[in-house]
Amino acid sequence: MLWSRSKHSLIDSILVLILADYFDKFAFVDKELARRKAEHRFRRLKPVLPLCAVEIRADGRRMINFCSNDYLGLSRNETLRSRAVDYLSAYGAGSTASRLICGNYDIVEAAERKLARLKEMEAALIFNSGFQANVTVIPALADKNSLILSDRLNHNSIIQGARLSRGTVKIYRHNDPAHLAEQLDEAARQSFSRIIIVTESVFSMDGDISDLAAISALADRFGAIFIVDDAHATGVLGPKGMGLANGHLADVTIGTFSKGCGGFGAYVACSARLRDYLINCCPGFIYTTALPPAVIGGIDAALDLIPEMNTARSRLMDSAARVRQELNAMGFDTGASATQIIPVLIGDTQKTLSLSKWLADQGILALAIRPPTVPDGASRIRISLSAEHTPIHIGQLIEAFKGWRNQNEPG
Ligand SMILES: Cc1ncc(COP(=O)(O)O)c(C=O)c1O
Repeated sequence: MLWSRSKHSLIDSILVLILADYFDKFAFVDKELARRKAEHRFRRLKPVLPLCAVEIRADGRRMINFCSNDYLGLSRNETLRSRAVDYLSAYGAGSTASRLICGNYDIVEAAERKLARLKEMEAALIFNSGFQANVTVIPALADKNSLILSDRLNHNSIIQGARLSRGTVKIYRHNDPAHLAEQLDEAARQSFSRIIIVTESVFSMDGDISDLAAISALADRFGAIFIVDDAHATGVLGPKGMGLANGHLADVTIGTFSKGCGGFGAYVACSARLRDYLINCCPGFIYTTALPPAVIGGIDAALDLIPEMNTARSRLMDSAARVRQELNAMGFDTGASATQIIPVLIGDTQKTLSLSKWLADQGILALAIRPPTVPDGASRIRISLSAEHTPIHIGQLIEAFKGWRNQNEPG
């Protein structure tokens, strides 16, 4: 009697679970989150407090920040902050509408003219973010009969933009102009309406530099449109620190003000007729409220300061060379990094997470980057340096890696 009652209640519970799963329209959410946890891919947000350009309070303690993209430390710069306040006071907290309605304040066009001059391009157009620019500019330039040739390690916003274009997307091997040339040869025998090549100049997760001259020559030879995402070079590399895709190397340069420029927002530098085209045909420009005036103030001030910051840029590159050299001497693999972004390639996700935790315990914030942000088996610690890191900060970073190396793989 007792057995039969408990048997019934067990069957009832199983039935309830099955029915709950069947009727729960969000059962897929639990399933996906459980999968991510099992694969060590579950991410959670952590509250942090910035203390200065390179120090942060996280998990209740002060840490040296090696995760931020504030490569020149401009996010805390006095000139940026005071111009942001000036524009905020003069123009208000918001821009009240899209650029085409009544949000096209004179300060925005002034910043665009300044940027175009610095990029040595005919024109520039400000977008609300780098992600937004990539997901909307690429589809605006392509149609369903276009071919988009995209580097295998391009940023997710480029991948999404290419997918949204509804054209054919082909991936060429990372930073491999020879493979790209093969794909262009093949494409030339087909009837695409147009061919678009898109690459980053400095790759965000690997810190290596794209062979832009070779790709640009291929684009010319095959009559392809060449788009370069200069996000991680803007402020840091190239003439006057204004990026690697200046002048006539690319047809369209997309960049962001959120990294080396220390602020927020993004830009497209291009010809005047392409600017007109985007103003008329690019939904991510047309159907969104213009950036707030304070943000434009930060952008405008950063554009004044960056050309004069050669000393900061050399300091940054010297720190990067020192970190790479010391890590390599300890046996760590830093891939093809040639910039302020230095991946420490570990491979196994759990091991990468334990290294990141070890670093945090030593007061170093350097996060693990794992799939799907990077390919399977390519988990790494991504170090990003700032010109504001002192030799002492860099020394502490190196000592922390040394400590882990001694504990985990002695000898
Ligand atoms: C190469 C690249 N493009 C675009 C973006 C997006 O820029 P934003 O942060 O301005 O949206 C990023 C930043 O994460 C990036 O690394």
